[in-house]
Amino acid sequence: MTEAWGPDDDEPRPHSGPVRVRVPAKINLHLGVGPLRPDGYHELNTVYHAISLFDEITARHGDTLTLTMEGEGTGELALDETNLIIRAARALAARARVPAYARLHLRKSIPLAGGLAGGSADAAATLIACDLLWGLGLGRDELADVGAQLGSDVPFLLYGGTALGTGHGEAVSPILARPTTWHWVVAIADGGLSTPAVYRELDTLRDSSWPPAPLDSADRLMAALRQRDPEVLAAALGNDLQPAALALRPQLADVLKAGTEAGALTGLVSGSGPTCVFLAATAAHAQEIAGRLTAAGVCRAAVTARGPQPGARVI
Ligand code: C5P
Repeated sequence: MTEAWGPDDDEPRPHSGPVRVRVPAKINLHLGVGPLRPDGYHELNTVYHAISLFDEITARHGDTLTLTMEGEGTGELALDETNLIIRAARALAARARVPAYARLHLRKSIPLAGGLAGGSADAAATLIACDLLWGLGLGRDELADVGAQLGSDVPFLLYGGTALGTGHGEAVSPILARPTTWHWVVAIADGGLSTPAVYRELDTLRDSSWPPAPLDSADRLMAALRQRDPEVLAAALGNDLQPAALALRPQLADVLKAGTEAGALTGLVSGSGPTCVFLAATAAHAQEIAGRLTAAGVCRAAVTARGPQPGARVI
């Protein structure tokens, strides 16, 4: 007997739910910031790197769109229409012309406003979760297109790994390097920093040192990645936003100093801060640095992380 094989059998179908998606935090190994563009963004040359700090979104069917949360920042994060998770679900539903009905739950570990793209990570996870829950079957590239309108870092967090980001960060090309695990220590600060405020501070600092530096290419960093030597990578890490983050939060200089005194190969502010990240030679070295940083009392918490990690994916 031949099996009936309907024409729709390859079509994606709604998932009965729940759908659980895990998404990593990002750091920038290189963050070259160009001048302010007329649209309010700065042109970037950045190297994104996904690390093992994760948020998790669970999506279930519902007859409206709701969001609940637990973990880091509970009570501080608005769970209304301004939330990037709600905006991601609505943007995806509008693109696919389906009703935005889901019960979403966020388990948060990535600190809020920390320079680790926690908000963008949650938006990326929501796109993956709702795409599957609603049976839309959009590819990652199409989801990245929706995500780019939500935040500059959202497309990267759909892909993960280590990738070059251009435009205002939304144009992502994976960097194909032989697999190497890098060991990091992440120093989490008390309180966040506003990304627009840090970019504005950079513009102010640059106005007083006209002409501005040209947009720095990521070539040196990419060459360092290929050498797979942490000492070489340490010498190539850089962040144009660091002076602005330090101007707004001078205590970060103490965190960076404490990290290098604890034995890190180097340290830098992550994205727009205030999280600082330190490169270690090995997993054991990272543990040791995290212990010393915790004992130094310069940050709320110091944890180890590994990169690269895959982007938002169903677990
Ligand atoms: O894209 P995202 O929502 O994360 O950006 C937040 C803010 O950070 C922007 O509104 C802008 O003020 C600033 N930004 C920028 N240049 C970029 C990325 C972000 O000035 N390339």
